[in-house]
Amino acid sequence: MIRSVVSRVPGLGGWSDDPLWATFYDWTVEHPRVGGAVWRAGIQSDLRLLYRAASEIGRQPDGSRILDIPCGGGVALRGLKPGQDVEYVAADIAQAMLDRTMRAAEERGLLDQVNPQLADVGDLPFEDDSFDLVVTFTGLHCFPDPALAVIEMARVLKPGGVLTGSALLNDSLRYAGLRKVGRVAGLLGPGCTQHDLEGWFAGQGIADVVIERSGAIGYFRGVKRAAAVEPE
Ligand SMILES: C[S@@+](CC[C@H](N)C(=O)[O-])C[C@H]1O[C@@H](n2cnc3c(N)ncnc32)[C@H](O)[C@@H]1O
Repeated sequence: MIRSVVSRVPGLGGWSDDPLWATFYDWTVEHPRVGGAVWRAGIQSDLRLLYRAASEIGRQPDGSRILDIPCGGGVALRGLKPGQDVEYVAADIAQAMLDRTMRAAEERGLLDQVNPQLADVGDLPFEDDSFDLVVTFTGLHCFPDPALAVIEMARVLKPGGVLTGSALLNDSLRYAGLRKVGRVAGLLGPGCTQHDLEGWFAGQGIADVVIERSGAIGYFRGVKRAAAVEPE
């Protein structure tokens, strides 16, 4: 009942409805001055950390495979350089979001480098050890089972590959209201704390983990440990 009322609020509604909220969010990311001020005022977070994390995409050597899940409106594409010789798979559970990403790819002159793919992060349609870099920006708090999402993203990452991204963390009570509205609207899942994340990464062999908190958001980066070689 509450959910059906909230989902009729303009801007909310599930991801597959391409909510107005997604347009607003993308706009803030694409407008560093005004958007940066909105992030600082709203969630006390420094938007430049998102740009810095996404720039790792542009440093991938030729032939690399990159997975962007969930790609949403394609904000991570800002890290991909035109002509960069990599395979960039942009994956999301909502076709509306893939369409949005491909429009962003066209505007950025990246259309021939981006491969859109419908995918549920809880059951990724990719081989084990098949990506050099997995990026997951502002995604974990949206997934129904973030622990399973970490298992799947770690599974498809090659040993030595990097998992990086960001999430709205449950650590601070200050943002509890925001999380509640998001959950009722069907936009957010249960989320996680920094402690949860550290445990999930350790459990999946993601090492050298760095988590940097900026207001409501935590930025994380870790490297998948190479498989131990069994002595003969
Ligand atoms: C806040 S957006 C973030 C997208 C993008 N990374 C960004 O930073 O703008 C959350 C995205 O998660 C996607 N999503 C939600 N549940 C998902 C799932 N189970 N598997 C894959 N994507 C999912 C939604 O469709 C939406 O595009």
